[in-house]
Amino acid sequence: MSIWVDEEQKIFHLQSKDTSYIMRVVKGRYLAHVYWGKKIHTPDVENAQLNRWISFGAAPDGSDKSYSLDYIRQEYPTGCQTDYRMPAVQAVFEDGSRAVELVYESYRILPGKPGLQGLPAAYVENEEEADTLEITLSDTLKHMKVILMYTVYKELDVITRSVKIRNESAERIRLEKAVSASVDFETSDYELLDLPGAWGRERHIEKTKLRSGIQELQSRRGASSHQMNPFFALAEPGAGEDRGKVYGFALVYSGNFTAGAEVDQIFQTRAWIGLNGYDFSWLLESGETFQTPEAVMVYSSEGFGKMSRTFHQLFRTRLVRGRYRDEVRPILANNWEATYFDFTEDRLVEIAAKAKECGVELFVLDDGWFGKRDNDFCALGDWVVNEDKIKGGLPALAERIHGLGLKFGLWVEPEMINEDSDLYREHPDWALKIPGRAMNRSRHQLNLDITRKEVRDHVMNQIFSVLDACKVDYVKWDMNRSVDNVFSAALPRECQGEVYHRYVLAVYEMMESLVQRYPDLLFEGCSGGGGRFEAGMLYYSPQIWCSDNTDAIDRLKIQYGTSFGYPISAMGSHVSVCPNHQSGRITPFETRGIVASAGTFGYELDLIKMSEEEKKIARGQILKYKEMEHLVQTGDYYRLVNPFENNNHVLWQFVSKDKKETVVCGVRLHSEANPHIYLFYPQGLDADMKYEDVVTGKVYTGAALMKAGLPLPLTTGDYQPIKFTFKAVER
Ligand code: DGJ
Repeated sequence: MSIWVDEEQKIFHLQSKDTSYIMRVVKGRYLAHVYWGKKIHTPDVENAQLNRWISFGAAPDGSDKSYSLDYIRQEYPTGCQTDYRMPAVQAVFEDGSRAVELVYESYRILPGKPGLQGLPAAYVENEEEADTLEITLSDTLKHMKVILMYTVYKELDVITRSVKIRNESAERIRLEKAVSASVDFETSDYELLDLPGAWGRERHIEKTKLRSGIQELQSRRGASSHQMNPFFALAEPGAGEDRGKVYGFALVYSGNFTAGAEVDQIFQTRAWIGLNGYDFSWLLESGETFQTPEAVMVYSSEGFGKMSRTFHQLFRTRLVRGRYRDEVRPILANNWEATYFDFTEDRLVEIAAKAKECGVELFVLDDGWFGKRDNDFCALGDWVVNEDKIKGGLPALAERIHGLGLKFGLWVEPEMINEDSDLYREHPDWALKIPGRAMNRSRHQLNLDITRKEVRDHVMNQIFSVLDACKVDYVKWDMNRSVDNVFSAALPRECQGEVYHRYVLAVYEMMESLVQRYPDLLFEGCSGGGGRFEAGMLYYSPQIWCSDNTDAIDRLKIQYGTSFGYPISAMGSHVSVCPNHQSGRITPFETRGIVASAGTFGYELDLIKMSEEEKKIARGQILKYKEMEHLVQTGDYYRLVNPFENNNHVLWQFVSKDKKETVVCGVRLHSEANPHIYLFYPQGLDADMKYEDVVTGKVYTGAALMKAGLPLPLTTGDYQPIKFTFKAVER
């Protein structure tokens, strides 16, 4: 059992492999947070903040000034009743009052892990893997129940949290905020690491020391966004890849989120992650329940590296679903950067044939195959094939692609509509738009009001007809604008604050219908590159297009940052043409291959135009990738050299679970005359095992590789590829 309860003192102790998480009820009422960190075997941890008085603090009952919720560390703070820090939940009641007071009511323990209604969530394959603690808090005056769910994965240092809020009163309650997890830490001696960015520059690393007040990360774009990511970590000063206490938080959600930390007046820290309260309200009728998304919390006592490997392990084995969770992904060629909108079926088949010659396994037809889509001004919403471009239609094209021995994939963007489309002409009210206001467009498109069932059914049925008619093996689901013009013609005025969240629930329902109907389909998420690269999407799509920026050098930072929270097998990563279409940079073909092989590998260029030399390299690249794809899929990942800190080279490493195989890859960024020696130190090996460098045949012990290191090769020219493969040998 991973959950231990002291009935008398009401202490709850969650224990995962190496972690303890402890809460207790204080003053017979409030659920306080006591400890989260390295496993301890007894829960007798001092509550340093109890029985302390600070000036200008208020006490909840006035008679006992020796405690105030303003500094007691709490599990799910309400932000009133003397706590002036960031609340986890806010509500408005029929009488207009806004105060929520939650007191402990009861608990129960469930084997395994229940799913979350309508929302993505990590799962278990059998009840032995995890236990779930459900703690019910209650606002007895307003008859509102708050049910905190904690699942402890026994073999991983993971705790997931979510919250259900139930209206047990006869009146309506308007929920204005409900985060998924809030954790109060004893000190503020932490650094905050997060993954901000922009289109083409997603998930760069930022690290800042916590300071007094609120440091908030959030998206208000309706999607998790390129600009901020629903992931962050708090780390003790000096924590590195392999040392130090690190607490990681990720939200399994694809819409507006808030996350962050508040350092209070006595230098404690409240961290949280959950739905953003911005432009959010949810009407709970009597008897209704609201379910928050799930937060995943990981503790590592061995730095960021272990934290990331724990997230990777959980996400790729207990969040990603379907056939491709465990199967290596086909190597793909996508026609987007090869043709953009300008193609015919013959040109596509020609590209596919060249791709096949190189060893590609899947051909993906990107944007432009439907309606009158010759540019990005029109046709979103018209999911019928454009027979001017694709004579004979998609079934005939799919047959030709399959005839080459390739799988066939298709791009869709189901959440969007262009005003220049048959769908819009027929149903202008099907777009989100605010009455009386001018609509704003982004990439000339509007968001469909998928909060309406008839709208999402219409779109999905159109797409299903296409997919049913030709055997499609892969779908790329794109989303090329933020959610805006936020108003649904189908919702009453008091529910307009629900549109953002309903939009995300609708996306999930649509995606679920797709994966249920086509269980063998490989599904790739996308949002103008990596604008929706998070755990919510991974529940539906095992891989996500990491960024529209395919420049190998820019990708070093994007993929490095992404790896903090997300598995390498989830990162769509392709070799593209040079000069690169986004940056104009020229890099060696081999280097583009090395960088793309730190992800789900593919090509995004006109293979017809490739030189014989490039085709030869591509064939070799694919063979080499196939030798290591199982490591990308299931191996442990180590960040060896940080591209944000080192201007000379970047290195990363995969190690098989049995430690018998390892591949170190990287890029030498700048050439130097008469360079000095750069050593690299592989990680995660068995110190006593012997490893052979498969190129030189030299044999080293794991200890020698990890401690003494090896020199990087001397290269000339910028952006040179680096790759070492070591395999365990008996001698
Ligand atoms: C944005 C995606 O990220 C690209 O890969 C491509 O699919 C385009 N959209 C197509 O419009």
